[in-house]
Amino acid sequence: MIEQGKILLNEKVGRDIWRMELKCPWIAMKAKPGQFVNVKLNDVAEPLLRRPISLHGIDAENGIISLLYLVVGRGTEMMTKLENGDSVDLLGPLGKGFSTFFHGRRAVIVAGGIGSAPFYPLMEELKAKQKNITMIYGARDAESLTCLDLYEEQGAEMILVTEDGSVGEKGFVTGPLDCLLAERGADFVYACGPEAMLKAVEEVAANHGVQGEVSTEARMGCGLGVCLSCSKKGKDGKNRKVCQDGPVFPMGVMAYE
Ligand SMILES: Cc1cc2nc3c(=O)[nH]c(=O)nc-3n(C[C@H](O)[C@H](O)[C@H](O)COP(=O)(O)OP(=O)(O)OC[C@H]3O[C@@H](n4cnc5c(N)ncnc54)[C@H](O)[C@@H]3O)c2cc1C
Ligand code: FES
Repeated sequence: MIEQGKILLNEKVGRDIWRMELKCPWIAMKAKPGQFVNVKLNDVAEPLLRRPISLHGIDAENGIISLLYLVVGRGTEMMTKLENGDSVDLLGPLGKGFSTFFHGRRAVIVAGGIGSAPFYPLMEELKAKQKNITMIYGARDAESLTCLDLYEEQGAEMILVTEDGSVGEKGFVTGPLDCLLAERGADFVYACGPEAMLKAVEEVAANHGVQGEVSTEARMGCGLGVCLSCSKKGKDGKNRKVCQDGPVFPMGVMAYE
């Protein structure tokens, strides 16, 4: 479950956003879309805790995974300093990923900012199952929308949204989602992004009677269901461990603060 990932590529791809490719055959073979790895930098005492990062690419055949990460603090800043040939200590694959067993063919993916990270492997699986994919991808500005070519490669119809209007529609992802569900409907909606966005997306999907799944975040310690630091309340009042019961949950399960 712990594997040393050898860095093959670590490059800046957007505003404070980096993409890292790692050779780690065991994790690549086991991983499913929506799962994550807990990253620990080698040879440094700080940061002590591992950083949870979603799998942005899973290439089982070549034993390679990729991570898409936003620099927000010390751990992710240190990741940008790593070079080809360096190794990081990876615990994973962890958590429950996305399901793709819905009836019908129309899948809508809603991504907010770095919430786009887990969707490339999901698209590959949806494409293999001959589902039609529309991705509504929103971010602060044009520079924060990354890896568009990869999503287009999977045949996804792209609807881009920026808060400053620098590319695509101006505003938030929920506007185009509401229009799309009203005009064309959908069979399943997937979402990942800030909690306020997930809450709003769930409301829009529920208004149109469409089911879906959300990928959530929580501060994590062990990543293995032991320390309870990632515990979050569900709508039924019961706690869920995001690292083990999630990070992907059916819509309607989690209570957002
Ligand atoms: C299941 C899961 C998947 C994630 N996938 C991605 C991804 O693909 N790309 C990406 O850029 N980020 C992802 N994140 C968020 C990422 O883990 C944090 O941005 C990162 O841990 C910040 O570390 P830091 O040292 O740079 O920041 P600091 O703020 O210095 O971190 C301090 C502590 O807070 C925790 N922390 C800070 N922000 C978050 C956060 N948003 N979520 C959880 N813990 C946090 C850190 O792990 C650390 O323990 C994911 C989080 C979870 C829970
Ligand atoms: S991070 Fe320890 S239980 Fe989830």
